[in-house]
Amino acid sequence: MEKKRSQWSSNLGFILAAAGSAIGLGNIWKFPYMAGSNGGFAFIIIYLIIVLLIGIPVMMAEISVGRKMRMNAYDSFRTISSKWAFVGGLGVLCGFVILSFYSVIGGWSISYFLKFIVAIFNPASMPADTAGMFTELIGDVFQPILFHILFMAACIVIVLKGIAGGIEKASKFMMPTLFILLIITIIRSLTLGGNAMQGVSFLFKPDFSAITPKVLLAALGQAFFSLSLGMGCLVTYGSYLKREDNITKSAAIICGLDTLIAILAGLAIFPAVFAFKVEPGAGPGLVFITLPALFQQMPFGNFFGALFFLLIIFAALTSAISLLEVVNAFAIEKFNMPRNVSTIIVGIVIFLVGIPSALSQGGPLSGNLLPDWVPVLGGVPFLDFMSNLSDMLLPIGGFFICLVVAYVWKFDNAAKEISVDGSGRFPMRKAFEILVAVLIPIAILIVFLNIFGVFNVFFQ
Ligand code: TRP
Repeated sequence: MEKKRSQWSSNLGFILAAAGSAIGLGNIWKFPYMAGSNGGFAFIIIYLIIVLLIGIPVMMAEISVGRKMRMNAYDSFRTISSKWAFVGGLGVLCGFVILSFYSVIGGWSISYFLKFIVAIFNPASMPADTAGMFTELIGDVFQPILFHILFMAACIVIVLKGIAGGIEKASKFMMPTLFILLIITIIRSLTLGGNAMQGVSFLFKPDFSAITPKVLLAALGQAFFSLSLGMGCLVTYGSYLKREDNITKSAAIICGLDTLIAILAGLAIFPAVFAFKVEPGAGPGLVFITLPALFQQMPFGNFFGALFFLLIIFAALTSAISLLEVVNAFAIEKFNMPRNVSTIIVGIVIFLVGIPSALSQGGPLSGNLLPDWVPVLGGVPFLDFMSNLSDMLLPIGGFFICLVVAYVWKFDNAAKEISVDGSGRFPMRKAFEILVAVLIPIAILIVFLNIFGVFNVFFQ
């Protein structure tokens, strides 16, 4: 009476879905800014080393656990050892936390996409004051909720259709399209003339003196978020993977694609930022205030603005569906619900959890969630709280995933899975073991302590 578990229809389908999960908001606005302001090419080199030594092995560990257990993240870890089930439980919890605010930001992107579409036909509809436009949108009572609903609804519709027919199919369409949109944006950006080439040197000039221990730690945190590691996302996606697919190669390709897109995003954004002499500011401000101002000055700017926000929507959606699927796979198997019922229920619950975030950026719930004196999590509005909370939970999750694989499940089992019972190759097995058992947990521990400011004493 064992039900047949869903599978990806091909290894390429899995790679595109997992790359879709990895490539998201973290790549498009966070990485370019971090690279640009933290040593340019020097940061990129450090980031590449981290991806190689930490990203790929942790991703391999997650995928092999999932593919072996063929269960949701919680039950995968529970099956390894009931004492360690909490590692999977933490992942499912993390799915709620991340998706609830991720969807709010995805919603803002939908709103901007529509604004630019309207502006193509009626340029006067786009206000000159883009900062005001942003504040007005996110501080509104009605709009953030409306677009949050739209974004979650899109996720639900995709995930409802299942693994091969929903997630894989959507990723197969959205990821190549995203790539093409990004290339078009890069060409437009590089051909703007003026100081555009300064943007390239902002990104690619190596300044090794900018690499401080703090920057190293920030790069590690960025790698975890950007590669979707630490919360069982790749355990879940790995559980739908065919037995004979090559885990080492897949992990290397996914990590490579994620890093490539992050660098390309920098190449799309900074030449334009420098050509129009706007501030290369950080975070939401760059994407939602600076870039719209810049699109307005550009020939056919409204058209390129619409393309750019479509790109962001695709990047965010393929990440969001992976987060929804982590919780959904758990709900389907735990409560024995049909996929469509489960997806709708889980989607609605996450939508509800996201409402306080949606109303926290100038809206009625703008106050700080916890008092200032609470370390790390205090003194910020709900959305920022959720984002900081996930920054904390991911390294904790990654830390425990490594420990479980190394010391509870043990490397012989992992090696069996990665080499498909010895029929395939497992290159650099020794390196994998040393990294996962010792070096990565130590590195994560350092990052985690840094979140609590333990190292502020040592690093200025
Ligand atoms: N990696 C995505 C980004 O860069 C976000 C994301 C999707 C994620 N799934 C995840 C982050 C799982 C951590 C864990 O935007």
